[in-house]
Amino acid sequence: MARGTSIVIMCVVLICGVVGTRAVADTTAAADVRAARGLRSFSLFSSSNSSKKACVKPKPTLILISGLGGSQMVGTFEGNAECKAMLNTTVVWYADRWYWDKQLPCWGYLLSLNYNATTKSWSNSTGTKLWPDDGKFLGDVPDGSKQRLFYWFLNKHLASTHGYTIGKDLFLIPYDWRTGIQGLEQRGGIEGITRRISEAVKRNCGQKAIVIAHSYGANVMATIFQKPELQKWRQDTVKATIYVGAPFGGCAATTWLNQLSGDFFKLLPVLTNLMPASLTGKFHPTVVGTSVYRMAFGLPTWGWMLPRPSVLGKDHVVVVTPTKNYTVEQQKQLLLDMGDEGGASLLDDSWARSEALLKRGPVAGLETFCLYGTGVPTSTTLVFNESIPKRAVINRPFSVKNVDGDGVVDLTSLRLCSKLAPKANIAEVSSTYVDHATILAHPMGLERLSEILVKLGAGYSSTWNKLLTHAAAWATP
Ligand SMILES: *[C@@H]1O[C@H](CO)[C@@H](O)[C@H](O)[C@H]1NC(C)=O
Ligand SMILES: *[C@@H]1O[C@H](CO)[C@@H](O)[C@H](O)[C@H]1NC(C)=O
Ligand SMILES: *[C@@H]1O[C@H](CO)[C@@H](O)[C@H](O)[C@H]1NC(C)=O
Ligand SMILES: *[C@@H]1O[C@H](CO)[C@@H](O)[C@H](O)[C@H]1NC(C)=O
Ligand SMILES: *[C@@H]1O[C@H](CO)[C@@H](O)[C@H](O)[C@H]1NC(C)=O
Ligand SMILES: *[C@@H]1O[C@H](CO)[C@@H](O)[C@H](O)[C@H]1NC(C)=O
Repeated sequence: MARGTSIVIMCVVLICGVVGTRAVADTTAAADVRAARGLRSFSLFSSSNSSKKACVKPKPTLILISGLGGSQMVGTFEGNAECKAMLNTTVVWYADRWYWDKQLPCWGYLLSLNYNATTKSWSNSTGTKLWPDDGKFLGDVPDGSKQRLFYWFLNKHLASTHGYTIGKDLFLIPYDWRTGIQGLEQRGGIEGITRRISEAVKRNCGQKAIVIAHSYGANVMATIFQKPELQKWRQDTVKATIYVGAPFGGCAATTWLNQLSGDFFKLLPVLTNLMPASLTGKFHPTVVGTSVYRMAFGLPTWGWMLPRPSVLGKDHVVVVTPTKNYTVEQQKQLLLDMGDEGGASLLDDSWARSEALLKRGPVAGLETFCLYGTGVPTSTTLVFNESIPKRAVINRPFSVKNVDGDGVVDLTSLRLCSKLAPKANIAEVSSTYVDHATILAHPMGLERLSEILVKLGAGYSSTWNKLLTHAAAWATP
């Protein structure tokens, strides 16, 4: 069945005010499955007219765009000599079961990307098809998904304090976070995001969107908002944006930990900050780490996360090894030494884009806010006791130097958000417990978010909720 057909089905479904709409598939391959699901929901819910009721007192549409690893990815796999075929659409990222699956090494393979040096483009690993999962309908986000779990406190807060409902006026928009902005551009991923936001706005009675963009999602959205060809779309669809923990100047040395030792959980600083590097440095790479390394190896997204000379200084040392040290300026060599030619070829482009994004400054008519945590130790130099191996996982660093930040992004980088938003719109939350991840879960982070939402017309659902929000922020360390 062609993509056109699923669009038609979706339009019929929308006109009837059905609850069960789906996004237009990113892939023609998945169109059949999706169309079938769309039809099913069509027959189940076509007698409902709940969306008319929803239009009585509609709130601004809330959109949540997550960062690296945030969106659930589903897909199929043809199979090869080492790994079993996966013919039915299956959740690949993120599902715990992979950890105890005998196919764990294959997990990394499914998520990894192929790089073509001639065309400078990335594609799914051979035999694999992966795409971002929309759930039962656009912005629904599958019930059991880790994306829902990760933002559980945020979603609960938005529901109980501001009266939001997922799929009605609150939407979690997925995208393929593996490929970086360049990869999204190459494969229609930018269009995938704007189309989903447009559909979300349509579902919520045409109420313009407030886009909450977390972490790398902020780089993605800031790029989209500045695109000249999308200005009309932006004006018609989006009224404001909130960049949360945005790495506009990279993440100091944090992501080198993920790239070199496959330790993805550094992106959840609240867990990993509890253990000193002298302890974690003793852990050999685990089977999981090795598989995650395979997946994270050569992800084009990393280029956006590596600190630029203008942010940390060109001579700042990010990685120390017994044979060679790597300064900010020498990070391309580090990519080459680890065997990531794709990442190295893209680094200058990612840096130039990040730099240009800040130079262009605020987008006219788009109310822009920044929200982030500070006061959390953030890795700025990693000290390893062995040389960088080529295409193989390294032991974790045995010593780490830290600077102030949110545990993932350093404060200098976080504060670059001020190039895109007026001073009055910047909210810094200083607490050891408010880090890159918990900024959207801790009462202090949620209070600041609520204050921004109130300014944007998404007020508290009652004075009582307002009092509770402030009381919780005051009472929690
Ligand atoms: C649609 O809404 C109207 C008014 O709110 C209500 O009277 C009617 O029963 C609803 N129809 C269905 C099929 O739910
Ligand atoms: C794939 O899905 C079909 C239809 O839902 C089902 O009959 C079949 O058992 C599934 N295959 C596997 C390997 O799960
Ligand atoms: C890279 O892309 C070019 C052009 O599409 C193609 O001819 C070539 O075979 C590709 N290289 C690899 C290694 O896939
Ligand atoms: C992966 O496969 C899906 C399904 O065919 C496709 O839509 C997507 O663009 C591919 N992504 C990459 C990076 O090749
Ligand atoms: C590095 O440290 C690990 C863990 O302490 C140790 O097992 C390994 O032998 C060390 N490697 C070198 C080259 O010293
Ligand atoms: C790397 O940096 C460390 C610590 O700053 C220093 O002690 C060491 O001599 C340097 N090594 C090389 C090879 O430059």
